[in-house]
Amino acid sequence: MENSDRRLFFSFMKMIFILCLLLCFTSSVESLNKKVSGFYVFGDSTVDPGNNNYINTPFRSNFPPYGRDFTNHVPTGRFSNGKLSTDFIAAYVGVKKELLPAYLDPNYRNNVEELMTGVSFASAGSGYDPLTPTISNVIPIPTQVEYFRECKKKMEAVIGKQSTENHMKNAVFFMSAGTNDFALNYFTLPIRRQSYTTILAYQQFLIQHIKQFLQDLLAEGAKKIAIAGVPPMGCLPMMITMHSPNAFLQRDCIEKYSSIGRDFNQLLQHELHLMQLQLNLSSPDAKIYYIDIYGPIANMIQAHQRYGFEGINSGCCGSGYIEASILCNKASSVCPDPFKYIFWDSIHPTEKAYHNLFLTFQPTIDFIVNN
Ligand SMILES: *[C@@H]1O[C@H](CO)[C@@H](O)[C@H](O)[C@H]1NC(C)=O
Repeated sequence: MENSDRRLFFSFMKMIFILCLLLCFTSSVESLNKKVSGFYVFGDSTVDPGNNNYINTPFRSNFPPYGRDFTNHVPTGRFSNGKLSTDFIAAYVGVKKELLPAYLDPNYRNNVEELMTGVSFASAGSGYDPLTPTISNVIPIPTQVEYFRECKKKMEAVIGKQSTENHMKNAVFFMSAGTNDFALNYFTLPIRRQSYTTILAYQQFLIQHIKQFLQDLLAEGAKKIAIAGVPPMGCLPMMITMHSPNAFLQRDCIEKYSSIGRDFNQLLQHELHLMQLQLNLSSPDAKIYYIDIYGPIANMIQAHQRYGFEGINSGCCGSGYIEASILCNKASSVCPDPFKYIFWDSIHPTEKAYHNLFLTFQPTIDFIVNN
């Protein structure tokens, strides 16, 4: 190449480079901030920021050491040492600065600005089976949807019906439940095992309730719904304690319960596919997304060293074998470093694990936001 050609070539490359910088930056900023209008969450303790503080149930966590890794160490009712995945999502999509609040919190329940950007209706201990929330007197999922309708009415009163409908078009809905239906209900109480004699029959019964929930949300104008499956249930420290032949010496995951979780996730994905097929005909702008939590949690356990986890089969609170909710309290000892644990109590992940989960959701969230 001649000198002048070379100069031309380099200045051309420089231009391309600058152009790319500009384009890349603008598109990444847009994909994060532009599109999500609100974030509405339903389900169980995995996504409950403290709704149970305002109802009459023993399933609570608004006391130390819960919340001990928040900057002010205040227990909020989240079943963890800090934030939940849904808090990280709410900040990532730009609807909240820090935390996604609980709908029943009196500071938010009538604050329409907060309701517009998002709240969680979830209730620890809840599940798809209508019997599950009655075990611990928590908020059934149809009631959570009823609260969402109430929330919508409050918005309509301020911004009008049409603007509220438009708001819903760019809102993201998130559901996470199912573990309690198995762990608290089917595996523990005899009543469902008597009427659903095979686990498959019970799983199909749960799927019917999920279908109803999704249809209820779609009827309220939801267009982007993400629904999580269940984790490897046989790896929850509480499940190991209850079902291992020797819970003190043998603390491997119990494959039987994890495989029930995998089967359930398969059934769920199949049902979501069928629902999407119908939606493509009846309401093509409505999308339902499956969120995998099984793979990421199984991976955190298996490849724990890569994540810096040392505690994988017991929780950080107390002995780690049985403590959850009121059994994990201010008299309990706490492990020296919760960031080295996957589980905070014998059932629920630590903030570190919830953050890792959030990172695995990110590509799906980006896709939801941009579609
Ligand atoms: C629904 O339509 C979208 C395109 O709009 C397509 O990508 C997707 O595969 C369809 N889903 C099903 C289940 O047919």
